[in-house]
Amino acid sequence: MSTQIHFEHSDGTERVVQGRPGQNLLEIALYHDIELDHACGGVCACSTCHVKIMEGADLLTEARDDEEDQLDDARDLSLESRLACQAKILPGANGKIRVAIPAWNVNAVREGH
Ligand code: FES
Repeated sequence: MSTQIHFEHSDGTERVVQGRPGQNLLEIALYHDIELDHACGGVCACSTCHVKIMEGADLLTEARDDEEDQLDDARDLSLESRLACQAKILPGANGKIRVAIPAWNVNAVREGH
């Protein structure tokens, strides 16, 4: 069983990597040197790791109340919105997850370094 994660940037570029059950999208992205802002270090205390799950949301854990609260502060909120640090691959997940990284997220990283 494996899960393919397609990280899609707003400029049309894409990186495809493998994920394992229990890993969250932020740690998978950072492990593979994919830029994704994470101001609070992945403890659900900001909303900078906001991404959109375009496909395969059912392969991820559901959002808890504290994640929903943080997302309320996120820019450009939509039904596909998740915090990458809180969305973990479910046990037994097998398939494809498409993750859209908003343009402003990458910009925030570049401005901060
Ligand atoms: S990095 Fe802060 S909520 Fe995900």
